[in-house]
Amino acid sequence: MDTLLSLHEISKNYGKIHAVDKLSMNIHKGQVFGILGPNGSGKTTTLSIVLDLIKADHGSFQWFGNVPSKETRKRIGSVIESPNFFPYLSAQKNLEIVAEIKDLSYDDIPTVLKMTGLYDRMNSKFRTFSFGMKQRLAVASALLGDPDVLILDEPTNGLDPQGIAQIREIILRVAGEGITIILASHLLDEVQKICSHVAVLNKGKILFDGEVSEVLAEADCIEVSADNLELLGKVMSEYPQCKSIAKSNDKLLLYFKTLVKPQEINQFLFSKGITVSHLMERKRSLEKHFLELLAQES
Ligand SMILES: Nc1ncnc2c1ncn2[C@@H]1O[C@H](COP(=O)(O)OP(=O)(O)O)[C@@H](O)[C@H]1O
Ligand SMILES: [Mg+2]
Repeated sequence: MDTLLSLHEISKNYGKIHAVDKLSMNIHKGQVFGILGPNGSGKTTTLSIVLDLIKADHGSFQWFGNVPSKETRKRIGSVIESPNFFPYLSAQKNLEIVAEIKDLSYDDIPTVLKMTGLYDRMNSKFRTFSFGMKQRLAVASALLGDPDVLILDEPTNGLDPQGIAQIREIILRVAGEGITIILASHLLDEVQKICSHVAVLNKGKILFDGEVSEVLAEADCIEVSADNLELLGKVMSEYPQCKSIAKSNDKLLLYFKTLVKPQEINQFLFSKGITVSHLMERKRSLEKHFLELLAQES
């Protein structure tokens, strides 16, 4: 797997506050990577460090396997702060100015306007845009120069439901073009809906990370046991929702692509002539507890 961004024990303190605390993680090419955490957990600080907007106190990071440089920065598009454009200029004109500053041609402008659903409004003045359109123009601007990665910090903050849906659609469209996405959010639901991978952050530390389907799953797995474990494994591997099966002593641990209840497994096995001797949902209580707190915030 191609590593796009790797962080090694990054720390940043503000006086006594450990905004980022020995943070290490790897983000790979093609992922839609969510950095999920409550307000104040260090998401913006982390993104600001990897974008060279602020300096870490300790640790290092690499982009595309290289130390950060002017060249690596050209391959990164980002929206960190609220959109800042010239109010009396059109969307097109504003993007032309961004292109000038970034030393790019105007050739990409129609493409990025189309990608963000603003093509029809390219000649409208920025000040006439809704907040959602302004946010979309910021994404369009970050996409100029055809970056390999797009970094977004709380991209749907302050948007109405329609604006939120539009931004999410754009993110998925951009990801579909093969651009890696790094998205910071305090919304569990948002990360669940659009991300493939997630790192859950609290007080500047990663609590857990991995594939969204595993990390944010309601139950970690289902434990099951029967007299003939081999047969049990073979039958379970034919269960359509089954993702993987691990053996643990005299039990099998079943992981699923979607939420599956123990009752469904019991019924399925019974229909295949297998009587289970043990069946239990294994909850990840810490994760669940934390994720519930996050869900309440949104
Ligand atoms: N410039 C700053 N000066 C002092 N404290 C800061 C500064 N920026 C961030 N912090 C603190 O660092 C912590 C992490 O902040 P931040 O990275 O903005 O979190 P998040 O983006 O997850 O909401 C918070 O406690 C915040 O108050
Ligand atoms: Mg933030």
